[in-house]
Amino acid sequence: MSSGRGRAPGKLILCGEHAVVYGHPAIALPLELATDIELARCEGPTRLLGAEPDARLAEALRRALPERGFALTVASDVPIGRGMGSSAALSVALVRAQADLEGASLPHGAVVARALELEAVFHGRPSGVDVEVSARGEPIRFWRGPPARIEPLPLPAGALVALDSGAGADTAEMVAGVAERRPAVDRALDAIGALVQVCTDVLGDPEALGPLLTENHRLLCEVGVSTSRLDELVALACGAGALGAKLSGSGGGGVVLALARDPEPILRAAAHVGVQAWCCVSEDS
Ligand code: PMV
Repeated sequence: MSSGRGRAPGKLILCGEHAVVYGHPAIALPLELATDIELARCEGPTRLLGAEPDARLAEALRRALPERGFALTVASDVPIGRGMGSSAALSVALVRAQADLEGASLPHGAVVARALELEAVFHGRPSGVDVEVSARGEPIRFWRGPPARIEPLPLPAGALVALDSGAGADTAEMVAGVAERRPAVDRALDAIGALVQVCTDVLGDPEALGPLLTENHRLLCEVGVSTSRLDELVALACGAGALGAKLSGSGGGGVVLALARDPEPILRAAAHVGVQAWCCVSEDS
């Protein structure tokens, strides 16, 4: 039995979500958390081993694979539905596993194009930032296309902690909500776009970057995508010494991302109130 393997990381959006849908830049970072896929040829109908596919995963598999002849094993430590890029990681890993099985070496552009088709099943019409950062595995500044424009960036200095709101985030629904609130929220979206430029210039300076992230959160509140739970987590992180914090991803649920010199007090404060938190990116990692 021949098989192919593919791996791709999850991501966090540092700043610029939602504005990126309207042509502004966003900064996205790959995570160490990743999705691994093994794809094997087998007899009978195509199936997912070891897990029940939800409706959208089943649809993505239907688009990606023939009806018969394949068995797919998915192992992932990227939290699902938390704005941490689980569907992009799945899409990129699946495209890579298919190419590996066929013995083909796909150029980056082809990986992204195929993965975007799959990600559209989960997200409607994504800007493409999640797939691009997952496929590259390095921090980027991203402008949606076509053609998309990408600039590799250094990792921000300091540590980034993700705090889980405990609620799922439906990206397609949140993006549609923002579209309905336009043009009333255009000023906030433009301000987020301008803020991303300033953030890019201070990635190496956590004391300067932190307050910009908190300002990005305030603007996302104006755009209407935060929740009281996400606002509480921003306050919790800042109260525990974060230099700044904001929701990351589509909002409505998902995670808050906090920037700190030292992640430990934030991880302790989160644990104290039963909030799951991960140190996702740090200079020492
Ligand atoms: O996949 P999420 O939840 O991280 O959201 C992606 C970021 C958005 O800007 C909200 C949507 C998009 O397609 O860029």
